Amino acid sequence: MNMMMALLGWVDDRFPLTKLWKEHLSEYYAPKNFNFWYYFGSLALLVLVIQIVSGIFLTIHYKPDASLDASGIPEAFKSVEYIMRDVEWGWFIRYMHSTGASAFFIVVYLHMFRGLIYGSYRKPRELIWIFGVFIYLALMAEGFFGYLLPWGQMSYWGAQVIVNLFAAVPFGIGEPLSEWIRGDFVISDATLNRFFAFHVIAVPLVLIMLIAAHIMALHEVGSGNPDGIEIKKNKGPDGIPLDGIPFHPYYTVKDILGVVVFLIGFFAVVFFAPTMFGYFIEVPNFEPANPLKTPDHIAPVWYYTPFYAMLRAVPPMFGSQFPGVIVMGAAIVVLFFLPWIDRSPVKSIRYKDLRTKLALAGFVVSFIWLGYLGVVSASPVKTMIAQCATLVYFGYFLYMPYYSRTEITSSMFRAPLVALYSIVTLGIIWYWWAGEVSAEITAVISLFTLAYTTYFLILPAYVVPAVVKPVPERVTK
Ligand code: HEM
Repeated sequence: MNMMMALLGWVDDRFPLTKLWKEHLSEYYAPKNFNFWYYFGSLALLVLVIQIVSGIFLTIHYKPDASLDASGIPEAFKSVEYIMRDVEWGWFIRYMHSTGASAFFIVVYLHMFRGLIYGSYRKPRELIWIFGVFIYLALMAEGFFGYLLPWGQMSYWGAQVIVNLFAAVPFGIGEPLSEWIRGDFVISDATLNRFFAFHVIAVPLVLIMLIAAHIMALHEVGSGNPDGIEIKKNKGPDGIPLDGIPFHPYYTVKDILGVVVFLIGFFAVVFFAPTMFGYFIEVPNFEPANPLKTPDHIAPVWYYTPFYAMLRAVPPMFGSQFPGVIVMGAAIVVLFFLPWIDRSPVKSIRYKDLRTKLALAGFVVSFIWLGYLGVVSASPVKTMIAQCATLVYFGYFLYMPYYSRTEITSSMFRAPLVALYSIVTLGIIWYWWAGEVSAEITAVISLFTLAYTTYFLILPAYVVPAVVKPVPERVTK
């Protein structure tokens, strides 16, 4: 023991090990009322480690090579099959990595949802949130680059569709831009090589740096909690927050429980349903990429489908798909503004009124609907539903400054603007569908218009706008 202490002293004289341990773990005081929703940050860290470790082992055996062997099979595809069949435990490593990709998004979506319900993005945690949105973007890029690597049919055609979106940029920029991304006129070996470089080193580096910044910002201001109370405002004579408990051992132990439950679910998928019925690994990806054969139905993996559905919901304008690309991009960019558009005097949904709860419910339902619509093939009715869901998605953000206010009087002058927005957006849908649809669909659109305006415009003015429950001084359970 003495030798260990001496060694620690030796290290501490040269590196702030104990200082870091205390600052970030044993003397980092976290609110004592964390609940279920506070598991997902640490679970996201766990999945990051799973992805990096399994990724290293995959890289050892994988070949980013699109050339064909003597029997016409691409080397990259073959190397993945080699990992699955011949490398010892190769199937396990690969399924951990493919399941890990979906698990990452499940965990991160739940983590972000926690942010929405408890207002974790509100002052002073705006930067934590902004780093988070950048992490989300990096994660999407990481998944996209990785999906090309097995060089299956969906890898190839999925990348084709996404890279072609860049070609939609107007003013003569699009075509050269998409060519620059591919490094060729079509998705080819050059594309595969650069996607490999981005997937294994460039994006992971950015991701790790962003996560470090995310956690540094968190430990600078301190963690939020389900009551939305700042525990640092209530300190004892020893300077320790009265409602805080040391992260270690209390939350390390709590998080271990989360880790165990998560891993049970994770390995259940890895062992018993690694493709998750075509949702985690799509069926056409078991066929090698064939540039001459387009799959019947091209859909991205589930975690992108809400945005893909928005892209498809916007009809081409002036012969260009660019407006759809803008809407899809705006759906993510709008997240950056959340800390400033939420004008509620309280952070947590526990103390907010029915308007906010309904708007959030609408947002979640529209996001799930969009996710579903992005998976299935399009039809006129489904496109119409996707358009309505897209409007509800954006309505959640655009109307937030209005419905999140306590007092409605000062925002009365905003009501005409809100009304104008409703009329314009709904007019757009109407215009798209006018003349092309049956009386039934027109009736559905009319009903939606009515519900939408009531929901975002009229309801906020009539539901008692005061914060329903007073926020307590100290944290509750
Ligand atoms: C790889 C992805 C991510 C990792 C590893 C990660 C990690 C963490 C960890 C460990 C915490 C503290 C524990 C907790 O509150 O659960 C945290 C808090 C937080 N994260 Fe993330 N995060 C990730 C992605 C995101 C994303 C995409 C967003 C939002 C767009 C986000 C927003 C936040 C916010 C606002 C907090 C502060 C919560 C509070 O203290 O009330 N994070 N994150």
